Amino acid sequence: MTKLHVFVVTCVAVALQAQLSLQYGDNSFAWSRQKEYYFGSRFKLNWFKAVEYCRDRGMFLLSVRNAEEREAIINYLASIGYTKRHKGLWAWMSANDLGEEGEFHWASTGGPVDYQNWSETEPNNYKTNDCRGEDCAILEYWEEGGANFNFTFNDRDCYTKHLNWHKAVEYCRTRGMFLVSINNAEELDGVVDYIEKSGFSKTHGLLHMWTSANDLGEEGQFFLASTGQRLTFDRWTKNEPNNAKHDNCTFEHCVVLEYYLPLGINYTFDDRPCNAENFFMCETIYD
Ligand SMILES: *[C@@H]1O[C@H](CO)[C@@H](O)[C@H](O)[C@H]1NC(C)=O
Ligand SMILES: *[C@@H]1O[C@H](CO)[C@@H](O)[C@H](O)[C@H]1NC(C)=O
Ligand SMILES: *[C@@H]1O[C@H](CO)[C@@H](O)[C@H](O)[C@H]1NC(C)=O
Ligand SMILES: *[C@@H]1O[C@H](CO)[C@@H](O)[C@H](O)[C@H]1NC(C)=O
Repeated sequence: MTKLHVFVVTCVAVALQAQLSLQYGDNSFAWSRQKEYYFGSRFKLNWFKAVEYCRDRGMFLLSVRNAEEREAIINYLASIGYTKRHKGLWAWMSANDLGEEGEFHWASTGGPVDYQNWSETEPNNYKTNDCRGEDCAILEYWEEGGANFNFTFNDRDCYTKHLNWHKAVEYCRTRGMFLVSINNAEELDGVVDYIEKSGFSKTHGLLHMWTSANDLGEEGQFFLASTGQRLTFDRWTKNEPNNAKHDNCTFEHCVVLEYYLPLGINYTFDDRPCNAENFFMCETIYD
């Protein structure tokens, strides 16, 4: 708890700094948005775990945390006439076990899925191909299923169309705390300034830090998970992004900000395997 406290104090200080800078800037982004940063440099997480850790507030994919919330969703779907018009429902929830197989967490809060009301024989992590099982949860309903499929949970392949899971998450996130997004020189300066002031670069010659940018939804099309916007800031390290192959199942879809002066790498972007462990930075975005 004490550690958390320190983080909170750090965030507030940065928010004040951001507010102060408003008085000098006339940039509409700065006027309409205020950010807090949290730099998670005490331990490393893979990209997905880092996303969970960052999101402590905001609008997200559906969560069903207890029997009351389940009832509330059933009532809501009845009240809007959905269940009259449809025999079934498959709705993505924020629950997933991407970070560690079998350990379901709500992406919306990072907390464990304590209330679990699975359909019969689920979750089964069904292997959809050599590389993937089922790691993202849906709430499912099928009229003819009786007590089974009666607004119960099922694990599914995160990449199933219509929207793959990651795209759906992007779509949902209109506000909250997320992995940091860096989409122009000003945002980069804010992040670099924060890292420099934290003393990190005095003790570390090398930095690989996750940002929210990724091309998980479609190869080569980089988007910022935190805002759903396209990455337009061209700040790639030389010969990056290269989607390098690590093994048959692992390519590079998540973007780090990297720093390693011996190779002349000075806070530029590189695509890396999403399951690699790296430092990360979170930000809160207020509209
Ligand atoms: C789990 O779902 C079933 C419907 O299949 C429901 O009858 C039951 O009340 C739910 N259990 C809890 C603890 O909410
Ligand atoms: C499905 O769940 C609802 C709400 O918990 C319950 O009222 C209903 O009886 C359940 N239906 C079946 C067929 O179990
Ligand atoms: C990777 O794929 C190639 C070609 O399909 C295959 O020959 C090789 O055994 C695979 N390697 C692994 C580690 O699965
Ligand atoms: C590295 O980049 C930062 C931020 O853009 C800049 O202030 C600094 O001068 C650069 N350092 C070197 C050695 O190029």
